[in-house]
Amino acid sequence: MSVSVRVPAKINLALRVGERRADGYHELSTVFQAVGLYDTLTAARAPALTASVSGEGCALVPTGEGNLALRAARLLQVRTGVREGAELHVAKAIPVAGGLAGGSADAAAALVACDALWQTGLVREDLLALAAELGSDVPFAVHGGTALGTGRGCQLTEVLARGRYYWVLVLAERGLATPEVFALHDDLAPRPRADVEAVLAALRSGDPAALGRALGNDLQAAALRLRPELDRVLSAGVEAGALGVVVSGSGPTVAMLAASGPAAVRLAAEVAGCGWARAVRTAEAPVAGARLVTMPG
Ligand code: C5P
Repeated sequence: MSVSVRVPAKINLALRVGERRADGYHELSTVFQAVGLYDTLTAARAPALTASVSGEGCALVPTGEGNLALRAARLLQVRTGVREGAELHVAKAIPVAGGLAGGSADAAAALVACDALWQTGLVREDLLALAAELGSDVPFAVHGGTALGTGRGCQLTEVLARGRYYWVLVLAERGLATPEVFALHDDLAPRPRADVEAVLAALRSGDPAALGRALGNDLQAAALRLRPELDRVLSAGVEAGALGVVVSGSGPTVAMLAASGPAAVRLAAEVAGCGWARAVRTAEAPVAGARLVTMPG
């Protein structure tokens, strides 16, 4: 018996970074959006917990106890007193260390999959609380859609978001380490700039042009310092007619907003032709969070 869960990547439409807290995390105010680029996790009945990974960047993902999906399943097992294990397999399409919360997505998928496989009967709030223990972006990967994240990023509030959005995701050759980007951000000490209110207003009115203008990320300066070539990527998006361009999360993925599905395909073709992007994907948003695609039994 096995179950499969499909889980999306996220981008940050606005990412405002506040004070560094005593626990080392930063106070955030961020608008998450789940985009249609998915990892798929399968969990099969097994006596022990194991994990394997295939697909996009899989060589960079540990399969031992450092694997985030395995850690999520282990946490669920311990907290619910389940005695059986599970054989987890992650088929990756979300790039590793790309600022798209791929590892968090896998942790969220493992929680949802093992909850179904083991029939733990946890309610959504319990799953979200476990998710928050696993990482700042894990609750949103369970939640999906478009949401405001505060605190470490784990406290989620539903936001009114009208309309569909068409994104082009420009993937880089090498990832960036999130702690390194936050640390450089602290050294640079830029003033908070991302305009969360403007993003929320654009989403309320369902106006892609206004959303394009409002996109902003306080970590972008640090990501650009670590990866100067991102500047060319951002400019290429603007020149190719994107409604807005922004580095996603801690980068280095760049998200470009297009006016329609066909416009996204044209934008993707144009920025892919410039030569520096490792890969370019189009993705619609918002989409649901981690969901079962095959049922147990
Ligand atoms: O929570 P998560 O493990 O995804 O965070 C990865 C790293 O990102 C943290 O170790 C920390 O360096 C940084 N971070 C932060 N403030 C946040 C979220 C993440 O400084 N609110």
